[in-house]
Amino acid sequence: MNKNIVCIGAGYIGGPTMAVVAMMNPDRKVVVCDIDAKRIAAWNSKKYELPIYEPGLVDVVRSVRGRNLFFTTDIKKAVKECDIVFVGVNTPTKMFGRGAGRASDLQFWEATAREIKVCAEGDKIIVEKSTLPVRTAAAMSAILNDHAKHEFIVLSNPEFLAEGTAINDLLRPDRVLIGGPDTASGRAAVAQICDIYAGKGGRWVPRERILTTNVWSAELSKLAANAMLAQRVSSINALAGLCEATGADVDEVARVMGTDHRIGPEFLKAGPGFGGSCFKKDVLNLVYLCEMFGLHTAAEYWTGVIKMNDHQQARIVSRLFKEMFNTLANKKIAMFGFAFKADTGDTRETPAGYVARLLHEEHVRLVITDPKAMENGRRDLADLDGIAWERNPFKAAKDADAVLLMTDWREYPALDWAKIFRSMRKPALVFDTRNCLDAKALRKLGFKVLNIGK
Ligand code: NAD
Ligand code: UGA
Repeated sequence: MNKNIVCIGAGYIGGPTMAVVAMMNPDRKVVVCDIDAKRIAAWNSKKYELPIYEPGLVDVVRSVRGRNLFFTTDIKKAVKECDIVFVGVNTPTKMFGRGAGRASDLQFWEATAREIKVCAEGDKIIVEKSTLPVRTAAAMSAILNDHAKHEFIVLSNPEFLAEGTAINDLLRPDRVLIGGPDTASGRAAVAQICDIYAGKGGRWVPRERILTTNVWSAELSKLAANAMLAQRVSSINALAGLCEATGADVDEVARVMGTDHRIGPEFLKAGPGFGGSCFKKDVLNLVYLCEMFGLHTAAEYWTGVIKMNDHQQARIVSRLFKEMFNTLANKKIAMFGFAFKADTGDTRETPAGYVARLLHEEHVRLVITDPKAMENGRRDLADLDGIAWERNPFKAAKDADAVLLMTDWREYPALDWAKIFRSMRKPALVFDTRNCLDAKALRKLGFKVLNIGK
């Protein structure tokens, strides 16, 4: 029998993942719930004005919504009627009490577990989709199964998609990871989740790409994968500073390193540092776990990855300061891009946000433009006065002393930079923190150009 699926949490993970699950499993009903009524209304909007921007997502939702994919705020009813519950609620860094600033805040998770227990009218498989500290499944299982009328099996199925490429990552994942208890019912539950990812008629993820482990390995592998990726970004950014000091070119160094198949070419792009909702939170979480287990040197090691990232953003402002005659007060800077990476409207932990705050402290007249992240950005910086937002990059750059490119949106290299140069105050500076513009061509036009790691 094809079991019905519910996902609690209709965010960047719950929405796209379940849309693809529904597309690949047309004979299963998939219901996505959230306590945020506005978000659910957006997922259900007639004009498909979805709550998040993700290339290709609208087409997938269009093909399944109302067929076997549904969005609702009625969590009780959805849980009652399903067999498998994915939980993809947010797990932000805890900001109070023990572990403040490092540990995960698990209050949403625990609330969700209690809610499931109250609504359930039969046995259920609970699947952790959120990124959680190691051994959360044990805590969840204890809450769910304490004096329970039904059996709850808790599995870990962390998600590895990256924003901006979510649909492709979901359709063609490097691997799917399912961790479960090594008991008869645990193994049977893991097999059921494997079936979902295999898709109807085995047309989705090939079996050899579905990895199964124990629950703790699955929980830790997710934190470990993000920490290793974040560490690569911090490593290349640490080298970028050295390149600037010595005359080496970080893109050349990365190219050379990347051709060694043991290192590989990806995740070696120097830039303004990593942003996004997960890298910082997950590395901090790993730091907290290390501390909890008395592994203080390991905790310090991973803390270095975050320190390097913060330093990279401070360095951007220092370089601007130096190049703009040691005063930024009242100068106009046009920030091109606010999203934490291209192809997303997400601004959580975006380097642009930190840099904007540092520039604001220097009394810069800041104008920010972004094709998809203006709404989120405005909300993030609502506490700062005097920041202007302008959809049109040409208008943003008019009379500016500098353009500071923070996000490598595809359209930026294609802009008419001669027109931008003409409209700016002179000397006109471009600081391309993503090394995505043609610096040579810009210099020919008369710009002074700064890059990262060159
Ligand atoms: P998000 O904030 O976009 O979405 C979480 C949603 O859960 C919100 O809409 C919130 O209203 C809802 N929610 C919270 N408590 C609830 C409750 N009790 N009942 C119902 N709904 C509730 O977060 P996200 O980016 O989707 O991340 C969710 C989890 O997935 C995190 O643990 C994150 O680390 C992990 N993750 C995210 C990504 C990503 O690309 N964003 C990738 C891999 C893993
Ligand atoms: C990341 C991981 O790549 C996903 O596998 C994981 O599922 C996800 O976190 C998560 O757990 O949430 P995401 O944060 O969406 O995905 O985006 P990435 O492509 O990893 O980029 C993260 C940040 O690193 C961005 O700010 C990006 O600009 C930066 N980055 C990335 C670099 O500066 N250089 C690089 O070479 C790569």
